[in-house]
Amino acid sequence: MTYLPAVATFSAVTADPAPQAWADLAQLLGPGEFADMFGCTATPPPDWEPVFTLEGRQMIWARSSVSDHSGDGTGVVELGADDVSEMRELVAQTRPGPFWPRTRELGCYLGIRENGRLVAMAGERLRPPGWTEISAVCTAPEARGRGHAARVVTALVAGITARGERPFLHVAEKNTGAIALYERLGFQTRKHVTFRGFRTP
Ligand SMILES: CC(C)(COP(=O)(O)OP(=O)(O)OC[C@H]1O[C@@H](n2cnc3c(N)ncnc32)[C@H](O)[C@@H]1OP(=O)(O)O)[C@@H](O)C(=O)NCCC(=O)NCCS
Repeated sequence: MTYLPAVATFSAVTADPAPQAWADLAQLLGPGEFADMFGCTATPPPDWEPVFTLEGRQMIWARSSVSDHSGDGTGVVELGADDVSEMRELVAQTRPGPFWPRTRELGCYLGIRENGRLVAMAGERLRPPGWTEISAVCTAPEARGRGHAARVVTALVAGITARGERPFLHVAEKNTGAIALYERLGFQTRKHVTFRGFRTP
């Protein structure tokens, strides 16, 4: 299973997959394409080239209500199709994780502008039933430490919890600043995960 490549490169096989499952995924993706296997523990066949391994953690929203210490959402705007090139520029500058030309279509993306320029954003990505993942959390270097990320993430949490779902997110283990921010906002670590990426034969 995978997404349209412009939306996401996340790919999955069943637990304990048969060799045919890897062959089917390779055919779906095409030769020499990237498969982001997230926390998949199964090992692909030897002709799949390992691209990266990254230690991270999954954090889940652990509060019963959204606290107001992160502000009231002032300045937070919804980002649309016309904002995608600016969103991609911000992602290229801050590298919060994968964000493709059509990733925005997976959910609600919110941002903050300073003098008209997009300086912070975050949005919704994976949607397992009852849950929504917050991702692409980033703030331009010159606009950091002003509570922008806190404000955008809190606004997303408010929207997700209002529809009866629970927010979660993924963060690299070495990103201690972001982990501290998420803990302060009300997220707790659920489990440690190893993200793996492979290239198809
Ligand atoms: C992680 C990241 C998004 C934080 O963005 P930010 O807008 O600076 O975050 P905030 O301002 O909300 O919070 C950061 C700090 O500012 C402080 N702060 C919050 N509100 C503040 C305010 N109104 N005034 C001054 N400081 C404030 C916070 O206490 C926090 O301090 P801490 O580092 O001790 O926790 C940003 O550093 C970034 O883009 N990093 C690269 C991409 C990335 O790693 N994204 C996360 C992927 S999982």
